[in-house]
Amino acid sequence: MSPMTDKLTAAVEYLESNNIGSPKIGLILGSGMGNTVDNYPVLQSIGYEQIPGFKQPTVAGHQGQLKMTNHYGVDVIWMQGRLHYYEGHSVEDMVFPIRVMKELGVQKLLITNAAGGVSTYFHEGDFMVLDGHLGLANMTFSSAAAPGSYCPQMRTNAMEAASNVPNLTMHAGVYAMVSGPSYETPAEVKMLRTLGADAVGMSTVPEVLTAQQLGMKVLGISCITNMASGITNAPLSHEEVMETSSRVKADFADWLDRWLALETKG
Ligand code: 6GU
Repeated sequence: MSPMTDKLTAAVEYLESNNIGSPKIGLILGSGMGNTVDNYPVLQSIGYEQIPGFKQPTVAGHQGQLKMTNHYGVDVIWMQGRLHYYEGHSVEDMVFPIRVMKELGVQKLLITNAAGGVSTYFHEGDFMVLDGHLGLANMTFSSAAAPGSYCPQMRTNAMEAASNVPNLTMHAGVYAMVSGPSYETPAEVKMLRTLGADAVGMSTVPEVLTAQQLGMKVLGISCITNMASGITNAPLSHEEVMETSSRVKADFADWLDRWLALETKG
């Protein structure tokens, strides 16, 4: 067996013997959105440090807990906190939890992130369903052979759920991933807009590619926590990202609840 397979087996066996259930839906929540899980009865909670092969996130707002809930009879697994490339992690370590989810039986994956608005139609606090992405950090980091597209049915459900949340604006658009950790300059943001980006962030694409390669259906959602440099003159900071995601947290939780109801129906 390869070291990768050994590590995967160890993680899956650990989680299965620690009551992780039979999750069919996986959620990876970005900066400031991870606490949504605590609106539900949490049936299992395991620190990443307990799980073979899982690395600890170091970014504020990323807690490092794997949690399990049940919605309408469907087990849902939550990654509260994710790894970023700019933290110095290898891409294999970043996408390892996706491989584990696949082995546990996850068929549908929702990945959310905090992103800067590049489209001038966006406002701070809006959300965006990913219709596509630009994997600009080293053109995606991935050896995945055939990237798929974001699942049309999950995107439709995302829009339907959003239409029932007052005050929540859900756009659809293209997410550009850059490696970070620095934010883009105004000139870089102009470049990204020219290339077709509507939002820019530092995560998501490696996990999406891995999940699609493994045959999962994927939905991506960006929370536009601030406008990118040069779109407005407001200075950027991780504090602002956390502040905005905290302000829209209740709307996001409302959206997620409605979306989970739609996804667990069929
Ligand atoms: Cl403006 N840029 C990037 N790369 N990531 C972000 C962001 C901006 N705002 C939140 N996350």
